[in-house]
Amino acid sequence: MELIDGKKTAAEIKDEIAAEVKKMMDNDERPPHLAAVLVGNDPASETYVSAKEKACKQVGFSSSTYKIESDVEEEELLKTVEFLNNDPGIDGFIVQLPLPDHIDEQKIIQSIKPSKDVDGFHPENVGRMTIGLPAYISATPNGIMELLKRADIETQGKNCVVLGRSNIVGRPISILMSRTTQPGNATVTVCHSKTQNLKEITAAADILIVAMGKPHFVTADMVKEGAIVVDVGIHRVESDKTKSGFKLIGDVKFDEVSQKVSHITPVPGGIGPMTIVSLLMNTLRARKNEIYH
Ligand code: GUN
Repeated sequence: MELIDGKKTAAEIKDEIAAEVKKMMDNDERPPHLAAVLVGNDPASETYVSAKEKACKQVGFSSSTYKIESDVEEEELLKTVEFLNNDPGIDGFIVQLPLPDHIDEQKIIQSIKPSKDVDGFHPENVGRMTIGLPAYISATPNGIMELLKRADIETQGKNCVVLGRSNIVGRPISILMSRTTQPGNATVTVCHSKTQNLKEITAAADILIVAMGKPHFVTADMVKEGAIVVDVGIHRVESDKTKSGFKLIGDVKFDEVSQKVSHITPVPGGIGPMTIVSLLMNTLRARKNEIYH
C-alpha cells in the first residue's frame, strides 16, 4: 500500500507559488490579493478563514478579511460583494459559507463576479467546468485532481465511484473525473443516500472517492483489492490515545481499508492540506487573468 501524501504535495505547491510571487515582486508587480468575507462568528468558519490568511502570508500573497455581524441585512452583504467586485486591488475573494439562515446563499454566490470567484461556486464557473472551458474549480475537487495528477495515478478507463453528491465535492469531482483530461476519462458512478446495493457498487470501484461526511463509513468489505481510495471526510472524535483527547478521522476506516488497497489518502494529511493550496492556485490564476481575459 502506498500513501498519497497530500501534506507533502501541498508544501511543494506552496513553494512553487511562493517562487512565482517572488518573481512578480522582483519585477515590481504587486502580489496576488485574496479577500475573505466572514459573516458572524461560527468557530469552524473563523478557523478556515484564519488558515487561509496564514497560507496567503506563507506564499507572499496579500490578504484581507471583511468581518460582518451575523444580523447583517442581505442588501448590506450584497453591497460588500459589489465593493469587492469593483476593487481592482483584489484579484479574488470568497464569502465563507454557511451564511446565516436569513440570507439567501445562492443570491450572494451569484452576485460574485465570476472572474473573481476563486471558490468556483458561481454557476458560470460550475457550467464552464462542466463543459471543459477554463474555469475556477472549487477547492476540494481541484485539490483531489491535482493530488491524483502529481501522484501519477492512472484514471483513464477506470471504474470510478464517488460517494456523495454535494455541490462542493461529490458532484464536481464526478464531472471532473469523467472529463477528457488526465486525471479523468474515467467511467464514473455517483452514489448517494438513496443508492441501493451500495456495497456491490463500491466493491467494483478501481478508484473510490468518498465524500459523504460519515465517520468511518467505508469498511474493508466495501473495497476492491488493489483499489485507489481518496478520503475527503474529516471528523474530530474523542480519543484516549492522544494528549488533546481528540483525533481526526475520515469517512474511511483507514486501519482495515489500507490493508487492502494499492493507494490511499490519509486523514489528516491527505485531501485537507490540498484544499487551501487550491484556493491559492486559483488566486494566482486570477492575478494573471488566466481564466477570464
Ligand atoms: N465552507 C466550507 N468550505 C468552504 C469553501 O471551500 N469555501 C467557502 N466559501 N466556504 C466554505
